[in-house]
Amino acid sequence: HLVANQSTRVRFPYPAQKKSDTLLFNNLMTGTENNNSKGWPTVFIVFGATGDLMTKKIAPALYSLFKANQLPKLLTIIGSARREFSNDEFREYVKKILIDKGASDDETIKTFLSHFEYHKAEFTNPADYQSLAEKLGKIDGVWQACSNKLFYIAVPPQSYELLFTQLSSSGLTLPCGPDEGWTRVIVEKPFGDDYETAEKIDQMLWKLFKEEQIYRIDHYLAKEMLQNILVFRFTNNLLEKVWTNSEIESIDIKLFETLGVEKRGAFYEKVGALKDVGQNHILQLLSLVTMENPISLEAEKVRVTRSKVLQFLPDLSEEDIIKNTKRYQYKGYREIEDVDKSSTVETYFDINFSLTHPRWKDVKIRARSGKRMAESRKEIVITFKHLDNCLCPIDGQHVQNRVIFRFAPEEEIVIEFWSKKPGYAMEIQQADFKFTYQTEKSSMQYTDEYQKLLLDCIDGNQLLFVSTSEVAAMWKFIDPIVKVWKNNLVPLQEYEPDTTPE
Ligand code: BG6
Repeated sequence: HLVANQSTRVRFPYPAQKKSDTLLFNNLMTGTENNNSKGWPTVFIVFGATGDLMTKKIAPALYSLFKANQLPKLLTIIGSARREFSNDEFREYVKKILIDKGASDDETIKTFLSHFEYHKAEFTNPADYQSLAEKLGKIDGVWQACSNKLFYIAVPPQSYELLFTQLSSSGLTLPCGPDEGWTRVIVEKPFGDDYETAEKIDQMLWKLFKEEQIYRIDHYLAKEMLQNILVFRFTNNLLEKVWTNSEIESIDIKLFETLGVEKRGAFYEKVGALKDVGQNHILQLLSLVTMENPISLEAEKVRVTRSKVLQFLPDLSEEDIIKNTKRYQYKGYREIEDVDKSSTVETYFDINFSLTHPRWKDVKIRARSGKRMAESRKEIVITFKHLDNCLCPIDGQHVQNRVIFRFAPEEEIVIEFWSKKPGYAMEIQQADFKFTYQTEKSSMQYTDEYQKLLLDCIDGNQLLFVSTSEVAAMWKFIDPIVKVWKNNLVPLQEYEPDTTPE
């Protein structure tokens, strides 16, 4: 299933330049290497260019990359959607997004927008794909090269089938040849609604692309702190030997948000907290703290190693789920626009389980996440067992060490330990080593992560993208919980907004 159609694309009516022949581009490009992806002409095609994703993630991230001189010099961004827009109207539309997000440098905005074009298309209309092919052909003609093509699927999952079928018959996604421009595709979460639908999406994608061309975006993997977990664990020789169930008692993962569902009622009604952040972000966090050493930072090695540990997520029985999971909804959720007045969608969950991997057997894992919580707190807390022969001054005193990877409210790694209190008596006190990770963070949600991810996609590095086997393993774990909750076997409880249920 991993092999897509190998034949090459029907050529556009313009001669294509071979990638190996870089002479032509030496004159055209400055500042970037010719032999990497950023040095090659690239067309970025966004399907669903007037939607939410463009506003929240794609346009701001591309703009930041452009400002930082990180995008290919020869670049066209084609926005495709149903709306009637001229190129200029589309540029105005993108400009408004940027200005609303705080961009103020008129000259840079203007140059950035000059890379944009619009293509009006109905998903259902083959002629619209033909005209897109012609547009791409013209661009390649001007550049005298078969450019790299990056397809960003920013349409709702319900439209995937139509879009992929038409894309398939248009031949648009086929690269010109092994030595010429690549084609890649970016797909957004949610990757399906359950295991079955996720598999169906993959089947559709594999008809068009090989797995190495598919970039499934989960912005959590691009968070600095998450990448730091890999470095902390596998670059230091401090703790990895005790990073196992003989020493570790529990792993507690929290994603607490103070924000509510806001204007995303329609979306949230379809997912709920567990599918929105549990199936993906939380399980990604878990895989990073429990995976084996991937030995190398090669993308495929890391992805396979992350995936391996996820295969040890337990098959929870109905009884386990009833006993070890809780779901809640905040008061007032049902008053939000597009939310059903009798909605049973959870806005907070608390699930408890253990991995079946021998290294993690019996380590208590608790995963919680919710909206309108008392505080914004996003962290993984690793609690070590109480030492067998503890030199605890008070007999029976129970002391534990904790390692915390925190990325909200601060980005920090904390090691909590015990030390002697200064003074005559032999008393102990808790102390900590704290490393605060100073990064200049963008004030816009998602922008930092999307910049990194878009760049990696252009560079062909899949390390921070989720593989098909990770997605499958995560759904296999979540599906039974969703089913038991749907059958109302775990009662839905209420909580006051701005509080965190115990
Ligand atoms: C998204 C969810 O994937 O992650 C949102 O759809 C959630 O509901 C967001 O708010 C959290 O991301 P971050 O980066 O702010 O922790």
